[in-house]
Amino acid sequence: MLTLSNGNVIPQLGVGTWTLRDNIATENVSAALKAGFRLIDTAQMYQNEAEVGRGLALSGMPRSDYMVTTKVSNDMMRAGQDAVYASVAESLDKLGCGYLDFLLVHWPVKDRIKDTWQVMEEYVMNGKVRNIGVCNFNPHHIEDLMVYARIKPVINQIELHPLHSQENNVSFDKSLGIQVQSWGPFGHGLSDIPSIPEIRAIAAQYDRTPSQIILRWILQRGLACIPRAKVNHFKENLHVTDFVLSPEHMLQISALNQDRRSSEDDNPEDFAW
Ligand SMILES: NC(=O)c1ccc[n+]([C@@H]2O[C@H](COP(=O)([O-])OP(=O)(O)OC[C@H]3O[C@@H](n4cnc5c(N)ncnc54)[C@H](OP(=O)(O)O)[C@@H]3O)[C@@H](O)[C@H]2O)c1
Repeated sequence: MLTLSNGNVIPQLGVGTWTLRDNIATENVSAALKAGFRLIDTAQMYQNEAEVGRGLALSGMPRSDYMVTTKVSNDMMRAGQDAVYASVAESLDKLGCGYLDFLLVHWPVKDRIKDTWQVMEEYVMNGKVRNIGVCNFNPHHIEDLMVYARIKPVINQIELHPLHSQENNVSFDKSLGIQVQSWGPFGHGLSDIPSIPEIRAIAAQYDRTPSQIILRWILQRGLACIPRAKVNHFKENLHVTDFVLSPEHMLQISALNQDRRSSEDDNPEDFAW
């Protein structure tokens, strides 16, 4: 668990659900909770909140034992405050878990963040949402938000992996007490980051898998992470807390940075959807 700036906590490691649909999403979420994960990440744009909600119920786990994140979609942000309000109510209904632990702005949609944030603050004040935060925000987006936010963001979920180590965003967010959470640690299904030779060589030295080395590098930087995985990878992805990468290996992995996203469509400065 990591402690956030508002005193609440977040599991450092969770699971993503992007691309998971139908029964696969339901079974994956239930299995993830049973395997030991305590944070499930979804979004309105993933179109799987109802299936994720069924997975939460199927796990049989008490509500207080797990956390759920969802995110306000770009379309709802563009449609205005009433649409954002209704969409969050719909997310709550689909997830069926009573309250949201984390509600995030999914992308910094130009000129739509302030209106969206005000609605998200209202949800915190009416007790339906515990924490609010953002995704894919660069420092200038956060600086703008800080001017009017009555409730400050506790999390910034950004693409972060060895080819895109995000040193600037991490140190800026840290200076404001905002917890960075990595998405796409293994390459977002588009690039194969665990196959990078240097990471494979380090993995061999620790008798670990390359994926474990990537997760360990993220956790050791004090960051949170939500890798998406099928059931057969759960155990491996959870099993990253009983070894420590040396400072030299941490630096070696950080030196792989090329400021390279897995997809250029995902640049927060000019995304088109
Ligand atoms: N806020 C945002 O804008 C944003 C954007 C993108 C994603 N996200 C969130 O972040 C989550 C994670 O990112 P992502 O889904 O894009 O991709 P990712 O976690 O980088 O990669 C997922 C891929 O890694 C594979 N994998 C998982 N564990 C593995 C292991 N131990 N060894 C080898 N391969 C492994 C998975 O294969 P298997 O399925 O075969 O296990 C899957 O193909 C998403 O699911 C979503 O919840 C947020």
